Amino acid sequence: MSKGKFYITTPIYYPSDKLHIGHAYCTVVSDAYARYKRLQGYDVMFLTGTDEHGQKIEEKAKAAGVTPKQYVDRIVEGEHGVTDLWKLMNISNDRFIRTTDDYHVAAIQKIFRKLYDNGDIYKGEYKGMYCTPCESFWTESQLVNGKCPDCGREVHPASEEAYFFRLSKYASRVRELLTTTDFLEPASRVNEMVHNFIDPGLEDLCVSRTSFTWGVPVDFDPGHVVYVWVDALFNYMTALGFMNDRYHDCERFWPADIHFVGKEIVRFHSIIWPAMLMSMNLPLPKKVFGHGWLNFNGEKMSKSRGNVVDPYLLAERYGVDALRFFLLRDVPFGSDGNFTNEALFYRINADLANDLGNLVSRTVSMAEKYFGGTLPQQRDPQPLDTELISMASGLRGIYEQNMEHFAPQNAIAEVFRVISRANKYIDETAPWVLARDEAKQPRLATVLYNLLESIRICVTLLQPMIPESCEKIFAQIGADADARTWDNAAVYGILPAQASVCRGENLFPRIDMEKELAELDKLTKKEQKAEEKAVKKTEKAQAKAQETDGIVSILQIEDFAKVDLRVAHVVACEPVKRAKKLLKLTLDLAGAQRTVVSGIAAWYQPEDLIGHDVIVVANLQPAKLCGVESQGMILAADAGENDVRVIFADGIPSGSKVR
Ligand code: MSP
Repeated sequence: MSKGKFYITTPIYYPSDKLHIGHAYCTVVSDAYARYKRLQGYDVMFLTGTDEHGQKIEEKAKAAGVTPKQYVDRIVEGEHGVTDLWKLMNISNDRFIRTTDDYHVAAIQKIFRKLYDNGDIYKGEYKGMYCTPCESFWTESQLVNGKCPDCGREVHPASEEAYFFRLSKYASRVRELLTTTDFLEPASRVNEMVHNFIDPGLEDLCVSRTSFTWGVPVDFDPGHVVYVWVDALFNYMTALGFMNDRYHDCERFWPADIHFVGKEIVRFHSIIWPAMLMSMNLPLPKKVFGHGWLNFNGEKMSKSRGNVVDPYLLAERYGVDALRFFLLRDVPFGSDGNFTNEALFYRINADLANDLGNLVSRTVSMAEKYFGGTLPQQRDPQPLDTELISMASGLRGIYEQNMEHFAPQNAIAEVFRVISRANKYIDETAPWVLARDEAKQPRLATVLYNLLESIRICVTLLQPMIPESCEKIFAQIGADADARTWDNAAVYGILPAQASVCRGENLFPRIDMEKELAELDKLTKKEQKAEEKAVKKTEKAQAKAQETDGIVSILQIEDFAKVDLRVAHVVACEPVKRAKKLLKLTLDLAGAQRTVVSGIAAWYQPEDLIGHDVIVVANLQPAKLCGVESQGMILAADAGENDVRVIFADGIPSGSKVR
């Protein structure tokens, strides 16, 4: 029977082609909580997704020569994109929302109108300092050394006609929510919100933009798009079916039980989000938890650090569970943590290989060696067993206390206390000595049974953190479905007396720290070299292509997306003086003229081209060829030996994009 519902969310991610291990942090912890609640018997809804609108995306897409939708599609659903990363990390989300999903867009329009109809959104003019990367307006007083207080980057003055949300109206209610309830945790974040944002005076929030178009259009005022944070925050409700017919889960799951968010976005979740919900008379989420940041060697993490923080490479070399384990065990949830390869290897070796891996492999090997895999029924319990049995029996309670207090690192530490105790128990009982004496067989069976039971309980509790490895260990110790349940993690003696084991692979191979660090270093250098080589190759090919104006080098798909191919009309054409091979073409490209020099004089007379439509690479770096600046190049095919043919696109309107 269900214990009730549990709705858990992660922030929805900005599509980024530079995903690093820090990005996986919040989603891995959320996943562990979703799994934990499912195991406890809750009906869980675990939501994650992507936040795809905004000026930054619009700009990046433009630079890449693709539409914003094409840009986000590739990063969200393409190879090594966001959804791939969640698959890799074994994330068990029940739903995935993209803010570009039609149902969400339509719902946001309705929500915006509702806030407007309520009188909480009004039109005014915005003047402030804007941080483009963060999509945030700031007042002068909020800036830190004149820079964005969130990311530390440059801000610029901006002003535009805009709609405003009456955030100030809700200041005292939000303050009360934060100071008199446990809506926001950890408590340190409450002080920060109250002292830095609410007490200095909450200003109304600018909630529409006119300076770009990649957003949800305000349906009653064309030209305005909804501020990306309004669009983003309501994902937590639209994904359940709020103001749309795609889903019908609001009644069951809203309000959210927990929003896990990084510390830099606590402000949006604990001030703006509840204020908007108050304005709409909607129930508030039960809790927002602001976790810390995972740094790299003490500095902000970024993908430019290469292999050492690349989740794909790390997972391939050390296993997904090892990575999940590190994130959950090493970083105290709520505080900042430090990722280093040394720390990762240390955790793998100390906890997973030495403690857990050793305990399982020693126990299973001994059961196989001494009893052919199946324990006999006779028992000989002794006082020495009591401590281990009582620790294992009481473990679930302590573990749950820690989980409920948002300290998964401590919950895991408690499990490992029992694992260490069990390893010590092996040394104390010395099964290899018992095995030499036929009369001590019942005692030997008792020792091995206690070890198997301790492993069963520990592994049941580790399932949320390292699910795949736990499955494998369960199989090795012969735990059937009943022996794996959460209820039975609090009961000692669940495995049958004649428990059977089956030895399996070594789950957590030890890492030779020095060798592995050197290996990673080598890989990083190799990657850097390969990158440098690729850049050089592309530059060379570009230069060659400009010289001969015929052939383009082989490109990666993402590089290809950067090539802006357009249809252009040839309005004039003439030979280039002192250059036998070159023709100078004057093209009309969507009303604008440009000059392109092409090495096709051996195959075409100017009159063969004038009046035709051709395909031009429109975003090529201009280059001078025999004194004439070429602003792009036209496409032609090598049709055979000494046979070059221009690719005509006659009849297609000038400026049309070619894909
Ligand atoms: N799109 C917004 C969230 C909108 S929620 C309605 C956003 N996206 S983000 O991609 O920039 O960040 C997503 C989450 O990843 C944030 O919670 C952020 O704190 C987290 N992290 C990004 N890098 C991180 C680390 N290095 N360490 C821990 N978490 C990090 O903000």
